[in-house]
Amino acid sequence: MRVLLTGGAGYIGAHTALALLEAGHDVLVVDDLSGTSAEAVARIERITGETVPLLVADVRDADALTDFVREHAPVQAVIHLAGLKAVGESVAEPVRYYDVNVGTTIALLKVMAAQGIPTIVFSSSATVYGTPEELPLTEESPTGIDLANPYGKTKRIIEEILSDAAAADPALRAVSLRYFNPVGAHASGLLGEDPHGIPNNLMPFVSRVAIGTLPEVAVFGTDYDTPDGTGLRDYIHVTDLAAGHVAALEHAQPGYDVFNLGTGTPVSVLELIAAFERASGRDIPRRIAPRRAGDVAASYADPAKAHRELGWSTRLTIDDACRDYWNWQTNNPDGYARA
Ligand code: NAD
Ligand code: WQD
Repeated sequence: MRVLLTGGAGYIGAHTALALLEAGHDVLVVDDLSGTSAEAVARIERITGETVPLLVADVRDADALTDFVREHAPVQAVIHLAGLKAVGESVAEPVRYYDVNVGTTIALLKVMAAQGIPTIVFSSSATVYGTPEELPLTEESPTGIDLANPYGKTKRIIEEILSDAAAADPALRAVSLRYFNPVGAHASGLLGEDPHGIPNNLMPFVSRVAIGTLPEVAVFGTDYDTPDGTGLRDYIHVTDLAAGHVAALEHAQPGYDVFNLGTGTPVSVLELIAAFERASGRDIPRRIAPRRAGDVAASYADPAKAHRELGWSTRLTIDDACRDYWNWQTNNPDGYARA
């Protein structure tokens, strides 16, 4: 298939582009480079020896997108990863988050309809569940429980839009993938996460403590109702996550469907820090801090539906993810910037 990846120069997009190329698909990327660098695409080309056309544009620019799709016809599917993803920022700038996340999706669906592209795979998030009422989370678990942040709401709204669009158009194949916590990097050390400024997420923060650019990690809460008192999450290696996109694309059926992409194995904050210490061979100073507003005690997937219907399952562990993140971090201390 020839696949358009929006946000294909980003963290998950770059790994997905690589997985698609390795599975024999053609890849085109549209990315405005607001959160990444064109170097990511150059590195995908280097690893695969393939050419990856890159349109540097905002996905809301439907004219630019239409020209790009026509130039590379026939485009048979879209994987929509472009968007803004910082939970705290979304509370401070809700209108921008709704504009970019919902607006890119609407523009894309219009271009797909006009150009006869039948398939869309969308980057949703386990955030849509809000505060879990039951664990592990299945695709039937209720969504939106105490969901307070605009970022998560954009994902829920987009899921609704895709479901409605598929109900109205019998040819449309729309799939939402609810990612749990993506971590790790490509085993080559050439692709990884490149957050600007001080990271919000645990593994990139811990990695910067290990390499010495941040002094210590704050453990946000040790009084949760969990085995060691710290938060439990389902950390999924980005390479496994990327493979989930290939499987979802290849199995997409007319209509709308949703899949959890997670390992099913909960890992605590302290367990992740210990795993990173093993992988890096460094001591990681930490201090106990209050709970972070909006955090849930535990969130992990029941990935059985993806196993059953997509023939996909994770292969890599938290230790693999720490090893690969550390390899990326040490080979690229400034991310893609100093390439
Ligand atoms: P990322 O920031 O690395 O990738 C997003 C990409 O989209 C960036 O390359 C950015 O330049 C691009 N982009 C942003 N706005 C754009 C626009 N208007 N037009 C064109 N390009 C635009 O983030 P990521 O971690 O790779 O996330 C990819 C997707 O997965 C996002 O939709 C995110 O919400 C979702 N997601 C991420 C996580 C996570 O923890 N990383 C978890 C669940 C879901
Ligand atoms: C993991 C655990 C923290 C940082 C977020 C978004 C979610 C999704 C993935 C996009 C929690 C603890 C963290 C630190 C810590 N993104 N922690 N010290 O919050 O599960 O999910 O990213 O869809 O929408 O909400 O991930 O990596 O921030 O936190 O103790 O410095 O680590 O409390 O238990 P989270 P995270």
